[in-house]
Amino acid sequence: MENTNLPTHVGIIMDGNGRWAKAHGVPRVMGHNAGMQAMKKIVIASSEMGIKYLTVYAFSTENWKRSTEEVSGIFNLIVKYVNSELEELDANNVHINIFGDYSMLPKASVDAIDKMIGRLENNDGLIFNIALNYGGRDEVARSVREIAAQVAAGEKAPEDITEEDISEHLWSGSAHFNVPDVDLIIRTAGDFRISNFLLWQSAYSELAFTNTLWPDFSEEEYTSILENFGSRERRFGGRIGEDK
Ligand code: IPE
Ligand code: IPE
Ligand code: MG
Repeated sequence: MENTNLPTHVGIIMDGNGRWAKAHGVPRVMGHNAGMQAMKKIVIASSEMGIKYLTVYAFSTENWKRSTEEVSGIFNLIVKYVNSELEELDANNVHINIFGDYSMLPKASVDAIDKMIGRLENNDGLIFNIALNYGGRDEVARSVREIAAQVAAGEKAPEDITEEDISEHLWSGSAHFNVPDVDLIIRTAGDFRISNFLLWQSAYSELAFTNTLWPDFSEEEYTSILENFGSRERRFGGRIGEDK
């Protein structure tokens, strides 16, 4: 693909696995399995196109409201993903970060994630961030707590707290993985909302919505959304071509 104006950081709200399962008359967890197959393709496609950062929304802090059966089904799929994809991810020089506290997941999932992070640690191709037990508000609250602790310790004055300080303490921040703000957020499955994804980092993101259910999302559709992004004019509150 000839696209000279690729986003540096793409975020994807991978929605519609449940509706896909319903449409196919299969259990919801099979929809999540089909969603994982779609994710595999999009990760490799992103790597091949030269996208630098990809963040996918895999499980939100609100998704715990679902049945135990569905939640554990999703966590089991993580183990399956690691076992089947680790070699290929490594061969593609993919690096993985987790945005979210995954320590309360079942031990098998935590172990699989730790193994994957460790194995891919020194890779510097695509930086693939998996938002897992992730919430945008939770992330800002964590950042504020860390900064408040610095204030309480007398290391920082309240009036010196900046936007950069808040950014720094997010999962994406320099205190963690140093991932830049997201340029483009894609949401599948027809809903027009953010659902607590990258709230702080999306201040000036471009948004793209499609009715396609996540398991049916193809490389072709991804490419066409990226091409459309390339033709958008981003102003960040200013005016194009005008100096002060
Ligand atoms: C997205 O698919 C995956 C997760 C939220 C884990 P859903 O399971 O939300 O699918 P729908 O929205 O019910 O179709
Ligand atoms: C957002 O989808 C979370 C993920 C894709 C992991 P949801 O299905 O949880 O969002 P709502 O409930 O429709 O807003
Ligand atoms: Mg959903």
